[in-house]
Amino acid sequence: MKKPIIVSGIQPTGRLHLGNYLGALKNFVALQNSGKYNCIFFIADYHSLTINFDPKEKQQQIYNLVNAYLSAGLDPKKSLLFTQSQAPDCTELAWILNTITPIGELERMTQYKDKAQENKQNINAGLFTYPALMAADIIMYDAAFVPVGEDQVQHLEFTRTLARKFNNKFGKTFIEPQPILTKTARLMSLNDPEKKMSKSIPNGCLFLNDSPAEIEKKIKTAVTDSGSEIKYDAQNKPGISNLLDIYSALTEKSVAEIENKYKDKNYGQFKTDLAQIAIKALEPFRSKKIPDSKIKTLLSASAKKAQKLSSAKMKEVKNKLGLPN
Ligand code: AMP
Ligand code: TRP
Repeated sequence: MKKPIIVSGIQPTGRLHLGNYLGALKNFVALQNSGKYNCIFFIADYHSLTINFDPKEKQQQIYNLVNAYLSAGLDPKKSLLFTQSQAPDCTELAWILNTITPIGELERMTQYKDKAQENKQNINAGLFTYPALMAADIIMYDAAFVPVGEDQVQHLEFTRTLARKFNNKFGKTFIEPQPILTKTARLMSLNDPEKKMSKSIPNGCLFLNDSPAEIEKKIKTAVTDSGSEIKYDAQNKPGISNLLDIYSALTEKSVAEIENKYKDKNYGQFKTDLAQIAIKALEPFRSKKIPDSKIKTLLSASAKKAQKLSSAKMKEVKNKLGLPN
């Protein structure tokens, strides 16, 4: 029997942080290594054009993201790793999906509203129709599951609605995908645990390639709550609860086990240990990089494979729509 397909992507927009890793990337690797799925992980470079960027930096941002994928443990022999713009059928499908997308649905998207709010000078049409391109990325490859952080769940709901709508209008063509969330699907900022960790607040991020000294400093100065007990209580003690989530995700120990271990200890001891755990866990992201020339070769070969899958799907779509092909 054919294995279910997994698709996910990350935008090459800057440095990856621990939220990206624990909410998404770590899960990509676990799913790949489970052997139960055919995995497709791509670099969402077309999506990344919807916010301000410097063309001189884009190529390097793409290579850095591939490096992070490989450092985390993604293996190009097991998973298909490619760049969205090199397999551009998705933009053609996105156009078609745009024609069945009500504007009102796009207006409800919280990511759009947040990004528009953050950058009033550049509220472009691409930012608005971003979810249609994301839906195309997913349903193009018949994905059954999409591992992402919680902030992407609304986009997936939208994707399912579009797939269903297309199927109802033009005949069964697409699968309705489900999200796969981790326990840390919403990691909070280190300096403001009421907000999610996000590159728009860099001070609250633990970046995957931070130096050991930076990791230590950030964890030691992470906002904790009044009191000194190491006890999980997301409502009243969001700071320590967030650090417990990180500890638990990085060690695979349960929160109860960790609470028990630190029963008679204080925040200082807990943070010292957590810093060491994080320094060790993130070591692969600081060590040797794959040369850009190797990545370039890898990406052009994998783009061809992706394009082969997508061109078959586009044929089917065009047939359903009565278009020539
Ligand atoms: P982005 O950097 O926004 O392209 O996000 C890449 C992936 O990381 C997506 O699957 C997000 O849902 C996930 N992600 C981003 N921030 C967080 C966070 N604070 N906690 C958990 N997952 C996150
Ligand atoms: N929108 C996602 C993010 O901001 C990135 C993305 C683009 C994606 N296309 C996708 C994620 C398809 C999963 C599947 O993180």
